[in-house]
Amino acid sequence: MEGCAAVKQLAGEERKSELERGVGEILIEDEALQARIRELGAEISADYAGRDLLLVGVLKGAVFFMADLMRELTVPCEIDFMAISSYGAATDSSGVVRILKDLDINVAGREVLVVEDIIDSGLTLSYLMRNLRARKPASLEVVTLLTKPERREIEVPVRYVGFEIPNRFVIGYGLDFAERYRNLPYVAVLHPDLVPNGT
Ligand code: IMP
Ligand code: MG
Repeated sequence: MEGCAAVKQLAGEERKSELERGVGEILIEDEALQARIRELGAEISADYAGRDLLLVGVLKGAVFFMADLMRELTVPCEIDFMAISSYGAATDSSGVVRILKDLDINVAGREVLVVEDIIDSGLTLSYLMRNLRARKPASLEVVTLLTKPERREIEVPVRYVGFEIPNRFVIGYGLDFAERYRNLPYVAVLHPDLVPNGT
């Protein structure tokens, strides 16, 4: 029995260390993320009291934040998703955006809150906001878990921000590097050995 538990624990630790090999400095711990998401949830619930909210998540990174945030909301809400791709290098956004998956729900006349994982240059969000505004929602606001203000190339009005972070490439809690590391429960800097040249 004991031997079996020890083997299981060892296997678990090996998996964990394999995933965590790409992790540099941890910027925001699990508990701090959840505490801030509770605050955002309370603020959004108060602001949207008496209204029906439609959360629009940007795949894939925002899924984790959105799932936790919506469980902190006390207003009725629906969710929908968009997938967009920017033609850029692995860690950089070009601002040229293509819709890969559009919304299922008609946003005309709806109270729309776009849920983002991170705003970097702002180019992706800027495109998305223009696109959604043209569909005539009753209101259109943004909540982002993270923002890198130093990297901003275009101003986008963001109503709710979880954390401002420095100009570093981060992974975890939905954020990927080449599609990996989304399942880390915290936000960390990508290990310097893995950072591509030019970022
Ligand atoms: P923007 O158009 O430059 O604002 O890029 C936004 C998108 O780039 C985000 O939704 C992320 O998918 C990705 N991104 C930007 N910075 C990071 C980062 O530090 N880690 C992981 N993905 C990032
Ligand atoms: Mg990404």
